[in-house]
Amino acid sequence: MSKIPTFTLNDGNQIPLLGFGTYKLKGAMGVNAITSALNNGYRLLDSAYNYENEGTVGQALKQTNLSRQDIFITSKLPGRYQEIKHAIPAIQESLYRAGLDYYDLYLIHWPNPKEDHYLEAWEALIQAQKFGLVKSIGVCNFLPEHLERLNNETGVIPAVNQIELHPYWSQSNQRAYDQEHNILTQAWSPLGRASSLLSDPLLSKIAQAHQKTVAQIVLRWELQLGVGIIPKANSAKHQLANLDIFDFTLSQAEVKQISDLDRTDGRLKNQDPAIYQEF
Ligand SMILES: NC(=O)c1ccc[n+]([C@@H]2O[C@H](COP(=O)([O-])OP(=O)(O)OC[C@H]3O[C@@H](n4cnc5c(N)ncnc54)[C@H](OP(=O)(O)O)[C@@H]3O)[C@@H](O)[C@H]2O)c1
Repeated sequence: MSKIPTFTLNDGNQIPLLGFGTYKLKGAMGVNAITSALNNGYRLLDSAYNYENEGTVGQALKQTNLSRQDIFITSKLPGRYQEIKHAIPAIQESLYRAGLDYYDLYLIHWPNPKEDHYLEAWEALIQAQKFGLVKSIGVCNFLPEHLERLNNETGVIPAVNQIELHPYWSQSNQRAYDQEHNILTQAWSPLGRASSLLSDPLLSKIAQAHQKTVAQIVLRWELQLGVGIIPKANSAKHQLANLDIFDFTLSQAEVKQISDLDRTDGRLKNQDPAIYQEF
């Protein structure tokens, strides 16, 4: 079984750098996929209130012999509950759904800047951490301007910023900002949701040279950028392949070639956090 490296967050807690995405894994099939991921060696599960699968995640955990403290579970606060009066009950509801008494990491799902409630949501997460409902707190899809505001108003810097990141959208500026401020960048859709990325000619060439698949090259590139990754895989074959990325290293030249695949229109669904909102 692979040894998944961990990272020490700015609050002192440890997070696995490779975890398991659970978007779209729901119900009995979701429980089977997530149980299989845990049995295959994953120790971080990435869920969200809005995935409507926190119950699935909790059920999968119950079906293994693993102890709660050996698993790192993330969930996320939806846009519609960012106001302080809604946020704490929503986090409690999130816990009830999963049958847990704490999350390891709780994130604001999107900044929704036009609504302008993300600062209140952040204050609620700070309180939830003090109450022990969540161990670490962070954000998703936050731009430097949003992060600056959290820091200026509360003095508490998120431990994690989970953002869209893959070779066609490699986020060098946001990564640099996060790193400078001691925030771990975690990549969502690290495989570009299995889009045309997985047949990219350059990536295929590098994959052949290392006798790996394109997906494995992409995940390895992300780890070498210093980014956490949470690939989702329903199939056990993909789950195992995505764990098998610790026995080779990309050269600096290969890392640069892959980073150069970045495109100005590389986002999967044009979800620019400056304007896109999700509730
Ligand atoms: N914070 C946010 O706003 C946000 C947004 C989007 C996603 N996320 C999180 O990020 C996680 C990952 O992103 P994602 O689910 O969008 O996409 P992804 O992980 O980039 O891609 C998942 C797709 O890749 C396929 N796949 C997995 N491993 C593969 C392999 N080794 N070879 C070929 N194909 C492979 C999967 O197939 P099978 O499933 O058929 O195996 C699935 O179709 C989500 O599940 C969610 O937890 C967060």
